[in-house]
Amino acid sequence: MSIPSARSAIATWVTRLYFSRLRKKGRGLDLSILSKLPDAALLPLRRDGLDPVPEIGALRDREPVSWLPIPGMTVWLVSGYDEAKQVLGDARAFSNDFANLVNHTSVTENHQPGGLGFCDPPDHTRLRRLLTPEFTMRRLSRLTPRIHAIAEERLAELAKAADTDGRVDFVEHFALPVPALVICELLGVPYEERDAFQQFSVTRFDVLGGVGASFGAISQSREYLHGLVEQQRRNPGDGLLGMLIREHGDSVTDEELTGLADGVLTGGLETTASMLALGTLVMLRDRGHFEAIRKADDPAAVAAPFVDELLRHLTVVQTAFPRFAREDMEVGGVRISGGDIVIVSLSAADRDPRLGPAMDTFDPTRPPASSHLAFGHGIHRCIGAELGKMELRAAFPKLVARFPDMRLAVRPEELEFRKLSVVYGVDSLPVHLN
Ligand code: HEM
Repeated sequence: MSIPSARSAIATWVTRLYFSRLRKKGRGLDLSILSKLPDAALLPLRRDGLDPVPEIGALRDREPVSWLPIPGMTVWLVSGYDEAKQVLGDARAFSNDFANLVNHTSVTENHQPGGLGFCDPPDHTRLRRLLTPEFTMRRLSRLTPRIHAIAEERLAELAKAADTDGRVDFVEHFALPVPALVICELLGVPYEERDAFQQFSVTRFDVLGGVGASFGAISQSREYLHGLVEQQRRNPGDGLLGMLIREHGDSVTDEELTGLADGVLTGGLETTASMLALGTLVMLRDRGHFEAIRKADDPAAVAAPFVDELLRHLTVVQTAFPRFAREDMEVGGVRISGGDIVIVSLSAADRDPRLGPAMDTFDPTRPPASSHLAFGHGIHRCIGAELGKMELRAAFPKLVARFPDMRLAVRPEELEFRKLSVVYGVDSLPVHLN
């Protein structure tokens, strides 16, 4: 890979995950160190179509914990399933605190991006406890009718957006708007602002527009969310922010609320959009899956195991947030020292033969591998897992029923998958609706 493309890919990765919250403070960052990463260090982000590259599977089977060549720091890649669970499940031995990474880079100030994924107990426990009630099945079931209505509305919009040949971009007109609108619903974004919200979600998603563009989109969305928090302070609505303000308004700051809302947007948008787009691609490439849902007497019953297997097989969040060893220890027979960084490859772990036979094959009829790591594991396991699944289970049956003749508008090999992105996916999926 050439240096400029490596630089922009890594900067995009880092921008998205780690540095998004620094911009608001107007602090610059020296990203040049990241351009020096050798190709081997990028292995956990490389794919061949929908599959992790074979090299990482071979590495996992040979050396489930291996050294990653990243200059200036000791980084371990954990690609085995058992080892991944050990790391993710032990928050006492491994920290998520971003300050650890900062100490390893040329950034000298103690930048702390905040958000659930970057903090440890007791802060993590306190902040996560605020959100948990809104993500229980009981509370989420109140969203079910809205999720179904949003999916129906967006299918109608998809049809409207198609050209005279029935060609349309599935990502722009369905895969992205559905989770964006569900998050509006969840947070309590007023109806009249939903178009604008959706618009900046798309811009934010479009980080391939360049690092500058993504910084801009991220800080713009933070400003928007901050404004939303202020507005909800004045007049708390029925959504998550209104609920948090009514119940914990005195003990949570606007900054923390903005961080939580931003975490929900970052965590719930791109991930679900990628699952919708790549899941649709799986169905269009192998018509059997499409027809199995479309022709089922009970499409929802067929869609549920399809979605579970899809989550495992695609594992679109390719690596967990970095973990930082707090002490010397052994993982998978390898000695890790306090201060080392550990990158867990969720996508390689979810193909580990220790999880079951033929894990490289997509097979929705296999006994459900509910213990897959597509949502992570341990105290940082995805808080929106059920919500994400609800969206996917609602969308696929409706899609195949509404457009039974839908097909790809390009040859599969013409599709452009994101390169070196933590959340794997396509930025565009051209389809013909009929
Ligand atoms: C199918 C879609 C989704 C996938 C594949 C996914 C995946 C993940 C993964 C792998 C993690 C753990 C990362 C780690 O341990 O380092 C995570 C955490 C998180 N996700 Fe999701 N996610 C999805 C949907 C959502 C949705 C819909 C929301 C919210 C609306 C959400 C919000 C979050 C938050 C806030 C965290 C941080 C949790 C914590 O650190 O305690 N995610 N997600």
